[in-house]
Amino acid sequence: MSEETYRHWRTERDDDGILWLSLDREGASANSLSAEVIAELDRLLQDIEKSPPRALVIRSAKPAGFIAGADVREFQRIRSHGEASDLILRAHGVFNRLEGLRCPTVTLIHGYCLGGGLELALATRYRIAEDDPRTRLGFPEVRLGIHPGFGGTVRSTRLIGHLRALELMLSGRTLSARAARHLGLVDYAVPQRQLLRAARQVALQPPAVHRPPIWQQASGYGPARRHIAAPYLRKETAKRVSERHYPAPYALIDLWTRYADDPRKMMDEEADSVARLIIGDTAQNLIRVFFLQEKLKALGKAAESRARHLHVIGAGIMGGDIAAWAAGQGLRVTLEDQSAERIAPAIGRAFKHISSRLKDPRAVRAAMDRLVPDPHGLGLKRADVIIEAIFENAAAKQELFRTMESKARPDALLATNTSSIPLEVIGEALHRPERVVGLHFFNPVAKMQLVEVVHGPATDLQCIARAMAFTRRIDRLPLPVKSSPGFLVNRVLMPYLMEAVTAVSEGIRPELVDSAAVEFGMPMGPVELADTVGLDICLSVAEILSERLGIAVPQRLRRMVEAGQLGRKSGRGFYAYSGGKAVKNRPETSDTLPNDLTDRLILSMLNEAVACLHEGVVQDADAVDAGIVFGTGFAPFRGGPMHYIHTSEPAHLRERLLALERTHGPRFKPHEGWSRL
Ligand code: NAI
Repeated sequence: MSEETYRHWRTERDDDGILWLSLDREGASANSLSAEVIAELDRLLQDIEKSPPRALVIRSAKPAGFIAGADVREFQRIRSHGEASDLILRAHGVFNRLEGLRCPTVTLIHGYCLGGGLELALATRYRIAEDDPRTRLGFPEVRLGIHPGFGGTVRSTRLIGHLRALELMLSGRTLSARAARHLGLVDYAVPQRQLLRAARQVALQPPAVHRPPIWQQASGYGPARRHIAAPYLRKETAKRVSERHYPAPYALIDLWTRYADDPRKMMDEEADSVARLIIGDTAQNLIRVFFLQEKLKALGKAAESRARHLHVIGAGIMGGDIAAWAAGQGLRVTLEDQSAERIAPAIGRAFKHISSRLKDPRAVRAAMDRLVPDPHGLGLKRADVIIEAIFENAAAKQELFRTMESKARPDALLATNTSSIPLEVIGEALHRPERVVGLHFFNPVAKMQLVEVVHGPATDLQCIARAMAFTRRIDRLPLPVKSSPGFLVNRVLMPYLMEAVTAVSEGIRPELVDSAAVEFGMPMGPVELADTVGLDICLSVAEILSERLGIAVPQRLRRMVEAGQLGRKSGRGFYAYSGGKAVKNRPETSDTLPNDLTDRLILSMLNEAVACLHEGVVQDADAVDAGIVFGTGFAPFRGGPMHYIHTSEPAHLRERLLALERTHGPRFKPHEGWSRL
């Protein structure tokens, strides 16, 4: 080795002549591949080429894992296709150099090995992964609006076969070490204590290189690829995402269809394809959403969560599911309700949920042992965090909070899951109202990542910080919101849902209303969403908001709830349900989408988002975007409602609201916040 000093890589040559190359990216707790990390690797490899060691082993010096991917922050700074393409081609050169070394090369993998990290590993001859639940391998690029770009499309298809590799890249799913071993993506999955020995053995006595079974290669041959596999992959992808909104998976299928016969050409075209995707709006917006998520995660670091024991009061839909989720995340949970019979259904649901998530029977048993039915409320005295989730009644909650305050430990966090009762009202009952925070979960708890952390004017800052840390402790995303009607998510969602109900009341078919929103990019239409949330729940939230914010509640919704048509859970709402799925009618030839329907739906939401920002319900526009994307699924590729407003010109959208106001009435009056944008 030359005497050059490296900032990110460490080298060590052992007595057997093996060169150990460890990545320890400076100033970061996890490794990612920045341009600088790659450039340093290049210089190292040039040295290695000059005097090759007996073998080379690449690994990570970070306890957090191997490499989490390329440095996405650099992608945000790219302005042109040429710039993107330069960056990618430079990485290609380095990875090709690694692949071309004459000595045996091995990657040792622990923890995350994702995206560019996995592509680096694929450029070595062998891969050994630690057999541990924390080890995850995969290509999550499509989630950021791109596809593998550091040679991964070529090397993965060659190593594990075309269809298997494409499935991995198109889904973005991650694999355990054993699953990766099964696919041939890694050669060995071994326990931690054997990692170094295994690496040494492979380095010194290199086995034959892995090749996929011949039948896996067949799908890559010309006609089979073009006429059978590619159309099939396109059809499957179209079931999940549209090409207009999410071009990356389609670009990957195209790349493979056209060039899989010629790896060298495919490599060049891979760079061109990713360069085009990176500078596109979808990728830039999805990267933005990724960083919004990181921001929410960071909020959980404002305090340390020492929570070990959670006490939940109210074992209904929400309380039961919060308890089950927290037990699955390793907390001891006591679950209280008025009687053991009322707790039993929640425990049954918890078992189903925990078994489907944890799979390993021992882990399931341990989680179920942590979840203790507590009809007498014995856990209240000992818990670190107490969440109240009884029915939505202010007087009942006040009484309960009085008991909580008198019995709980003085340092316990007291939280309510209320969706509509102001924190100030609950606090009136207490000697120390500053202790109360809201932890507003969404239904279903296991699917909805967001938790609104609600604070009133009196709430102690430290309690808010602890509530956010607790939210992270159970792997949810905390969003601080001001105690105000509907908080952020329900408030922005309701006008949109109510507008959809109004449109259906006017005689527009539900399928058409839903398709107008799906066209815009919502994952599910508003009519189906209302059915899924439950029409009774929608009605009660809408009524509260109508009192306080003047949102109109359509009569049709009231009549349906009175008739017991509550949506999916009752088997009938706006749609009929069969096997839990909405029965939708096919489009009719006479169907035409009223040309202002999408505007009516989406601008209802945007107008309310502007109002929330203006009234300071959350701190800033990014917080609005994060809340609405993670709390409602708002078209992630648009980067959030406020970002959408800014990129489509606020003045123009305001004009469209004024037009809707003229045709459909005052509910579309632009909020005064628009003039501040
Ligand atoms: P639920 O009606 O399913 O469950 C309430 C449970 O609390 C019942 O099992 C009842 O027996 C129990 N309970 C009532 N008083 C009690 C007391 N004094 N001590 C112990 N247990 C008592 O209600 P759900 O839907 O779970 O809602 C609970 C809270 O969560 C409400 O404040 C609601 O606004 C809020 N919420 C509901 C959401 C939903 O989608 N259902 C979403 C987010 C929040």
